[in-house]
Amino acid sequence: MGGCALPRHLRSGRHGSVRLKATITLRLTRFRPGLDAAPHEGVYQLPYQENMTVLEALRRVHAEQDDTLSFRWSCAQGKCGTCTVVLNGRPVLSCLTLLEPGEAKVEPPRKGQVLRDLTTDVG
Ligand code: FES
Repeated sequence: MGGCALPRHLRSGRHGSVRLKATITLRLTRFRPGLDAAPHEGVYQLPYQENMTVLEALRRVHAEQDDTLSFRWSCAQGKCGTCTVVLNGRPVLSCLTLLEPGEAKVEPPRKGQVLRDLTTDVG
């Protein structure tokens, strides 16, 4: 009887052992027009937390690892669209989109001119 009640992504190994330190690796587009010759990737690791949104992860990176990271958000409730980014090739609202353990590539929205990093001119 019994069994492991943990989600599959938190189990690993032959016998379903628990992975205690699941992480998220964020590959973020970094670009400062006028200073950088071209966009490049910045790689940041965070401990995985269930129900962590892309926006929460970006805010953690900004607060804990690199306060030069630029990104937009406003309502954090899926209403304004300000937080749109491209996650693994698809446009998403970062405030509503949950991350899974592993890698996530985050790029600026495809519309508008990149002002810096993940921030575009939406006006
Ligand atoms: S911050 Fe408004 S939709 Fe995400």
